[in-house]
Amino acid sequence: MDRFRVTGGQRLAGEVRITGAKNSALKLMAAALLAEGTTVLEEAPRILDVEIMSELLRRLGCEVEGETTGTVRIDVPAAPRFEADYDLVRSMRASICVLGPLLARCGEVHVAYPGGDAIGSRGLDMHIEGLVKLGATVENSHGVLIAKAPKGLKGTTVWLDFPSVGATENILMAAVLAEGRTVIDNAAREPEIVDICAMLTEMGARIEGAGSSTLEIEGVDGLKPVRHRTVPDRIVACTFAVAAAMTLGDVTVRNAHPEHLEIALDKLTLAGAEVSHVRDGFRVVMDRRPKAVDVVTLPYPGFATDMQPFFAAMNSIAEGSAMITENLFEARFVFLQELLRLGASIRTDGHHAIVRGVEQLSGAPVLTADIRAGAGLVLAGLVADGDTTVSGVHHIDRGYTGLEVQLQSLGAKIFREPEPESTSRF
Ligand code: UD1
Repeated sequence: MDRFRVTGGQRLAGEVRITGAKNSALKLMAAALLAEGTTVLEEAPRILDVEIMSELLRRLGCEVEGETTGTVRIDVPAAPRFEADYDLVRSMRASICVLGPLLARCGEVHVAYPGGDAIGSRGLDMHIEGLVKLGATVENSHGVLIAKAPKGLKGTTVWLDFPSVGATENILMAAVLAEGRTVIDNAAREPEIVDICAMLTEMGARIEGAGSSTLEIEGVDGLKPVRHRTVPDRIVACTFAVAAAMTLGDVTVRNAHPEHLEIALDKLTLAGAEVSHVRDGFRVVMDRRPKAVDVVTLPYPGFATDMQPFFAAMNSIAEGSAMITENLFEARFVFLQELLRLGASIRTDGHHAIVRGVEQLSGAPVLTADIRAGAGLVLAGLVADGDTTVSGVHHIDRGYTGLEVQLQSLGAKIFREPEPESTSRF
C-alpha cells in the first residue's frame, strides 16, 4: 500500500494533458462484447479499473491486450462466456455494465450482485426493471443476478425514475440488439453516454437522441467491431482546474472539452478565476484567494457529484461561506471529516454542508476510501501548511493516471511513498 506525501504551498503552473474518461472507457470495453472480432479503444486511461475490466473480459473468453498502454485491443469470441464473479465485481462496481451486453449477446448472464461501496448504497432496481421490460427474467440467487432472455429481447418503452448513468447504459446496450424499437425516457445525458452512443452507432446500432433525455433505439440483428477514441475525462480535467484555482496558479488543460464541465468552470469564474478556452482545452488563471461558491450536485448537465469533493476542498480555504448540497450519493460527505483533520470549518446537516473558509489549512495524515474524495484531499494538501499524507492511494489510482506525476510536472511537491507498517494492533 502506498500513500501520497504532499507539501503544501507551491503555485501550480504549466500544462497537463488528460486521457480518456474512466467512466466511458469501462462501458466502451463492455460494449465491445456486443460484436464478435477485434474492437480497439484509443485513449483508454492507464488505470487500475481498466486493468480490472480487462481481466473480467478475459474471464468471459475475450483476448485483451494493451490495457497498460492506452490503446486496448479486445478480441471477442463468437460465443463469450456469461458469468462475472464476485471477486471482480466487488473490486469494481462498474463490472455491472456487462449485464446488458451479455444478455443481448448470449441470452443469459450471471453477474454477482455488487453491494454498496464507499460513496453509498447504489441500487440496481432501474437496471433490472429496464431489462425485465425488455422481456428478460431476472432473479437474485445466492448473491448472483441471473438474467435470462432465451427467445431474445423485445423493444419497449422504459421510463427511468431517475436519470441513472449505469441503468441507461445497461438498458441501451441490451436494446441495440433487441427486436424492434426501444425508447428510454428520462435517460442520463452525460458526455460518457453520448460517447457510448457514438461507439454503438459506429458498430452499426441505430440510436437517436444521444445527449437528450429520450433515447430511441431501433434494434439491429448484429454489430461489427470498431476502432473508437474515448471521450476525455471531464472529472480529471476539473481536478486540475480546481488545483490551479486553489494554488493561485496558471494551468492549461489539454485534450479536454470545456463544454463538458461548463458549470464547474463557471463556478471557478465566480470564485474569481479567469477561465479561457484554448486550442484542445482550457486555461485557468487565479491571482486572488478564491471566493466561496455554492454547489448542488445533480445529474448532467447539472453539477457532477464526482466534482463535489474538489469544490469542498476549495471552499475550505475560500473567502466567505458556501453551501454544498449532495443529491446523489449519501456517503460522499464522509470525506469532509478528513478535511476537518486539516483544519477546515464544516458543518453537515443531512445532505447539506456549510463550509466556512479558513485562512490556512494545516497538514495532517488523512485517509481516503474513494477516488474523488482522495483527489479532493490531495487538493487540500496542496495548500495546507506543512506535510499532508493521503493514505488509500490505491483508490486514487483507480481513476487517475499518475496523479502525483502530473501534479509534479506543474510544480507540486507530492511524492508516493510506502505506507509505514502499523505499530498498533488496533
Ligand atoms: C456513475 C459513475 C459515477 C458517478 C455517477 C453519477 C461510473 C463507473 N460511475 O455511477 O462516477 O458519480 O454515475 O454521475 O460511470 N440508483 C438507484 N437505482 C438504480 C440505479 C441508480 O437507486 O437502479 C441511484 C444510485 O443509488 C445513486 C443515483 O441513482 O443514488 C445515481 O446513480 P447512477 O447514475 O446509476 O450512478 P452510477 O452509474 O452507479
